[in-house]
Amino acid sequence: MKSKRKIIVANWKMNPISFDEAKKLWSKSIKKIEETERISVIISPPYPYLTGLKKPNSKKIYLGSQDCSFERSGAYTGLVSPTMLFDIGVSYVIVGHSEVRKRGDTDEIVNKKMHSVIDSGMNVIVCIGEEKRNDNGEHLLFLKEQIEKTFKGINKNNYKNIIIAYEPVWAIGASSAMDSHSIYETSLFIRKIITEKFKIPLRSIPVLYGGSVDQDNCKNIVKDGDVDGLLVGRQSLDIKSFTDIVSALDF
Ligand code: 13P
Repeated sequence: MKSKRKIIVANWKMNPISFDEAKKLWSKSIKKIEETERISVIISPPYPYLTGLKKPNSKKIYLGSQDCSFERSGAYTGLVSPTMLFDIGVSYVIVGHSEVRKRGDTDEIVNKKMHSVIDSGMNVIVCIGEEKRNDNGEHLLFLKEQIEKTFKGINKNNYKNIIIAYEPVWAIGASSAMDSHSIYETSLFIRKIITEKFKIPLRSIPVLYGGSVDQDNCKNIVKDGDVDGLLVGRQSLDIKSFTDIVSALDF
């Protein structure tokens, strides 16, 4: 794992509120990323900005979408299809984010979106995570079931198109991240389930951590938590914090 590039996913959520600000944030972020050697960054702006942000021809920077429909076209007012996203140069789509699940996406819907994204020629970042945890370990059973349902029917040959983002729901938008030791235990548990399911080597599918990542905790989370990278929310909107995270992970 140590020889692989670390992955950073910037999830801008419903920000910033003007295209001018989005362009500034984009260009300052990519300037910093271009200076690095050991990371890959997927920036996921809101839909309206996707076509206006020009992706440089670089193996370090990719355009991501925060969600999509599982339908490809038709009478689905307000929805955006994976085929459209692929057509405008999007390479990664986040599915199953807890904020989208809260608005109604079930594991079955997330599963359909996963299939649809992969079938459309893109890579999928699938978010999983428990809402709460206690000492008797019920969250592990919850995660196992969530993985089984969201990965239903996913072909072993597609593992190269999948990234898992472990985001404990209670740590999103919180005052502090999950501790690194618990991240280590949980990411290992997730890797074992995936390995058993697909019969692939333990680290074939990258596992990221998300939830209150900042410039101070990012390096420890990746090193001690033994994850392949990070999914960053609020701090991807603050150029100083984000560039600090980018530099910190370039090891
Ligand atoms: P925060 O980094 O703001 O906690 O958000 C995490 C997240 O939801 C990223 O997808």
